[in-house]
Amino acid sequence: MGLIPPEIIEDVRIQTDIVGLVSEYVRLEKRGKNYAGNCPFHQERDPSFSVSPDKQLFYCFGCQTGGNAIKFLMLMENLTFVESVRRLADRAGIYLPDIERGSDNKRAAREEKAWKANALARDFYHNHLLNSPEASGAREYLAGRGLSEEIIKSFKIGCAPAAWDSLAVYMRGLGYGPGELIDFGLLTGDSGRNFDRFRKRIVFPVTNPQGRVVAFGGRVFGPAENQPKYLNTPETQFFNKSRILYGLEQARKAIKEAGYAVIMEGYMDVVTAHQFGVKNALASMGTSLTADQGKLLLRYSRDVYIAYDADSAGIKAASRGLDILQQIGCRLKVVSMPKGTDPDEFLREKGLDGWHKVIAGAQSLLEYKLNMAQNSKKDISDVIGEVLPNLAEIKSDIELEEGVKTVASRLSLSWEAVWGEIRRYREHTRKIWEKPDKIAKNTHNIFKSGKPKDALSRAELGILKVLVENPEKLNYIRSVLGDDFLQEPLYCEIYRVVSGHMDSGEFNPSRLLDQLEEPAAGLLSRLIMEKNEGIQDPDRVVSDYINVIQRNRQARKRMILMQELATAEKNNDIDRVNKILKQLQEI
Ligand code: CTP
Ligand code: MN
Repeated sequence: MGLIPPEIIEDVRIQTDIVGLVSEYVRLEKRGKNYAGNCPFHQERDPSFSVSPDKQLFYCFGCQTGGNAIKFLMLMENLTFVESVRRLADRAGIYLPDIERGSDNKRAAREEKAWKANALARDFYHNHLLNSPEASGAREYLAGRGLSEEIIKSFKIGCAPAAWDSLAVYMRGLGYGPGELIDFGLLTGDSGRNFDRFRKRIVFPVTNPQGRVVAFGGRVFGPAENQPKYLNTPETQFFNKSRILYGLEQARKAIKEAGYAVIMEGYMDVVTAHQFGVKNALASMGTSLTADQGKLLLRYSRDVYIAYDADSAGIKAASRGLDILQQIGCRLKVVSMPKGTDPDEFLREKGLDGWHKVIAGAQSLLEYKLNMAQNSKKDISDVIGEVLPNLAEIKSDIELEEGVKTVASRLSLSWEAVWGEIRRYREHTRKIWEKPDKIAKNTHNIFKSGKPKDALSRAELGILKVLVENPEKLNYIRSVLGDDFLQEPLYCEIYRVVSGHMDSGEFNPSRLLDQLEEPAAGLLSRLIMEKNEGIQDPDRVVSDYINVIQRNRQARKRMILMQELATAEKNNDIDRVNKILKQLQEI
């Protein structure tokens, strides 16, 4: 369990509410005692993911992934146990001494240093923008574009001074050398000769989903000769554009509330949108959307509106990205604004009312593509080819049927013809997109099919289930069967840990789960989380299971004796034969 002392892990466990943690990633709805939502670990249409506030566990009845808060964060963020505990400790404000931060994790330590340096740089730029006389031009520029001080502060927009080394000097004072600042993307050049990357630019800090600053986008303002409009932090080991959406931190709550996200192209679009009250807006930062970004969005909402400037190269280039988003399960709509306008300009011109109108009039990706294709006067077969990927990926039967009707009527085809195309298309591309996540692969296939088939396995699993629900039965079960009565190794592992835990005088499932590896942890989560309507009379159920196990035990014993008997008879070992016969009679 790494270097973190158990009492701190316990503290983290007590201070972390799993429902709160999970809702940062999954939309949860109350269902009886538990909360339900769409599983973040596999694709599904109906929520089979369940979180129990009482037991502080999660479990997905679809992909059989389960565990406590620490496990949830490990899977969600791809962390080790120690990293996950650290994150939760940070979140709960629990102090972890530095030595415990794990020397095994150089990468994490460096990443953290990059975050810290970037956060310092962000504050430096932000203060410069707000307070420095030198930044008056930048302040005027932003005011001219209509940004309020409030929104500037909430996005921590800043300004980089004009000098070539302002940031370098400032950071040196805080103990950062040029080498690492170059690695973090804040300086350019080499350790001998280097410059601040951002000079005389408005800077937009870019945060990752955890709210850490990982990059900056710098925009020129005022007269700028032969300079690119935007300059960005290069992709470093700490910054991967394809996993980040600008504004996610500010927008996540509103996305859940609104039930949809709006993706725009640029920094200015998002900031303006938020200022106008469109708080579910994010930006892809000028690149084509990726599956990782889509997965990020799926944590908050399935419905995604694309609000790109129709005239820009944006939407054509984005089209592949839109297909990817649909393939991973997003439902896409395309917002159409007048040609050559982006959301920033649109909102300033038409205001929030105008915005609501274009949102209401947004077309499905399918309709949008049909329009585009028809306007460009392509052959029917080309048009079909363009919309098939979108049609074939529609997950809901009702929506698919609607889609088929739309395509058929627009292209004057029969429904059957369109269905035929879909079938052919699906046959060609089958399986490419199924089960994209490693977790599904890791789950033990023994339970994929639900309940075990033979009576013995059912009884063994049943005993475990009774035990988990009625810990007081442990002594009785043990007195009849001993401690070594399970055949299935996976069940043995669970029994060993559960009974050992109960012997210590308590039963805390959430804590227990840290002692088990997969697939045992997943199975135990299932046993704990599964509805227990079945067990009304645990005493009777236990004695039924015990009977099955005992009978099976005897049958096995008998078989062994029979084999020994055969050997003894072959050897003419009369004494042995008699002894075995007597034993057999006893059974
Ligand atoms: N972009 C970039 N580098 C460029 C141009 C654009 O990284 N040279 C990215 C930025 O993230 C930018 C987005 O693409 O925000 C959209 O570009 P654009 O529409 O040109 O800029 P706006 O965000 O609309 O900025 P402004 O309104 O200030 O012109
Ligand atoms: Mn713009």
